[in-house]
Amino acid sequence: MESTQQRWQRTHWCGELRPVHAGQEVVLNGWVHRRRDHGGLIFVDLRDRSGIVQVVFNPQVDPEAYRLADTLRNEYVVSIRGQVRRRMPGAENPNLATGEIEVDGQAVTVLSRAKPLPVGLDDRTDVDETVRLRYRPLDLRRPSMQRILMMRHRATMSVRQFMDREGFLEIETPMLTRSTPEGARDYLVPSRVNPGKFFALPQSPQLFKQLLMVAGMERYFQIARCFRDEDLRADRQPEFTQIDVEMSFVDMNDVLDVMERLIVHVFREAGGIALPQPFPRLRYDEAIDRFGSDKPDLRFGMELVDVSDLVAGSDFQVFSRAVQEGGRVKALKVPGGAGMSRREIDELVDLAVQWGAKGLAWMAFMEDSVRSPIAKFFSEETIGRLRQATGAAAGDLVLFAADKREVAAEILGRLRVRLGRQIYNPDPQQFACAWIVDWPLFHENPETGRPDPAHHPFTSPVDEDLPLLETDPLKVRAKAYDLVINGYELGGGSIRIHRRDVQETVFRVIGLTPEEANEKFGFLLEAFEYGTPPHGGVAFGLDRLVMLLAGTDNIRDVIAFPKTQSASCLLTGAPSPVTEEQLRELHIRVR
Ligand code: AMO
Ligand code: AMP
Repeated sequence: MESTQQRWQRTHWCGELRPVHAGQEVVLNGWVHRRRDHGGLIFVDLRDRSGIVQVVFNPQVDPEAYRLADTLRNEYVVSIRGQVRRRMPGAENPNLATGEIEVDGQAVTVLSRAKPLPVGLDDRTDVDETVRLRYRPLDLRRPSMQRILMMRHRATMSVRQFMDREGFLEIETPMLTRSTPEGARDYLVPSRVNPGKFFALPQSPQLFKQLLMVAGMERYFQIARCFRDEDLRADRQPEFTQIDVEMSFVDMNDVLDVMERLIVHVFREAGGIALPQPFPRLRYDEAIDRFGSDKPDLRFGMELVDVSDLVAGSDFQVFSRAVQEGGRVKALKVPGGAGMSRREIDELVDLAVQWGAKGLAWMAFMEDSVRSPIAKFFSEETIGRLRQATGAAAGDLVLFAADKREVAAEILGRLRVRLGRQIYNPDPQQFACAWIVDWPLFHENPETGRPDPAHHPFTSPVDEDLPLLETDPLKVRAKAYDLVINGYELGGGSIRIHRRDVQETVFRVIGLTPEEANEKFGFLLEAFEYGTPPHGGVAFGLDRLVMLLAGTDNIRDVIAFPKTQSASCLLTGAPSPVTEEQLRELHIRVR
């Protein structure tokens, strides 16, 4: 090898060089981003994580350095010594932060060579994601990916800084533990020394953080890894990170106050973004009725309108029957939607049906007429009133769903997000935050008809509703809250139950026998008997937070080594088979 493998001590980062450095001798370490021959000169764009700088090798200045520079290929790792100089007028590159200067290359040493990369580093090229994940260390060299990981680091550091200042202690909780009930399946870890027994990886530190309040820690936080074996979506990973928080002697307003300041702090520190404050609060019922979602995207209007009363007595059986049976008819105005073709509208109907609607009716309003397959069922007066209620102008389309209240709202809510994002094309750097409050404690499980916890079974009911717990559980309100930003559920939490009798009642209501409750949560129930402060907390999804900051809608972009949609790692090949020997030691036989 022609180089001496000598690495000089780095004096500067590539991306920090500016005209003030002109005349200085510098040593740079990094990767050859691109090498070009130009009129007898060799230009090397040298890259490290701070950015890119242009180095020029001139045979007249240093023939040996020039000869070595000529052997460089993309992604070689090099150490370069040279002198910073201002570029000639007209040769500046405004697209580069270092574009006003260049480095006159005086010596080069090759630290490592590179084969041509299987993934391009240019952000503009659309490489298949499976290739990117297979070669993740190379994919992470892309400046855009490096920027995201640096942003993630700043977000994490700013959380720690804020929480420390506010008197929170960072405490680690176990990874090898018992199942925690956040509603997904557990990842299990077999125990070698306890045949037939398993640990579960935590779905969240929920129980431990409550026990830390029993322990008198008062204010806890953790940047906590959580594991959930659930169906994956674009904003979900089987292993993800929470900013997990718990506080003693607080009510909901205390928690929301500190947490709102935390989120504002992190957006400012990590993203340079000033979030509008205070975050509005929306009741759960209101969110469902007005936006058809418990995590509404509030960057645009398009609110749902309840038209049940207007159509209850109409000849259109689908509507009148729905209202008779206790359901609702809801409407969504799509501005400018009357221009949609029949096929485009049919596609919306198909979507709604896929999502579980019985159908989707529509009216397209013109200047003084209406186009609609159901217009014939309504008097001109009713159509006029519908138009007025929905505020439809000429050129607008109105969609109708008739169903149970939540179903009709949800279907139109999903159409609202889809169409709203097309019509208003909201800026990903504009953030509409809201706390969703006044949740019900339970939802009815559609299969079993039983009450399921809307959050988790440790959430406290509202005090006045305690008597309803056993008589009318679905009416019980919860001291729970979610933070929603741009249609994402960023976090959720609650004031907790801190009395053994109330906790036991909730377990009973969700169908646990006293034996099961004791078996699973006896340690919590017991702890409640030895002096438990009232407490509450919240957990935010760190990955989702960084997604919002980075303006991506793919959670894999903000995790260094993510899993695919089928929960596998293309880089390491995990999960993988294990040897018979390992299985025997763990007392496991694969079926
Ligand atoms: P919850 O289950 O709502 O609450 O989770 C809190 C936040 O974690 C994020 N999150 C996820 N992010 C990526 N991939 C996933 N699979 C995933 N699942 C959840 C979301 C979510 O809002 N113990 C309670 C919190 C509490 O009550 O204090 C809990 O875990 O952003
Ligand atoms: P039908 O009488 O079932 O053919 O339906 C007539 C129109 O009403 C069609 O456009 C259906 O998509 C629509 N429709 C059917 N059921 C519903 C419903 N529950 N809500 C809204 N529109 C519906």
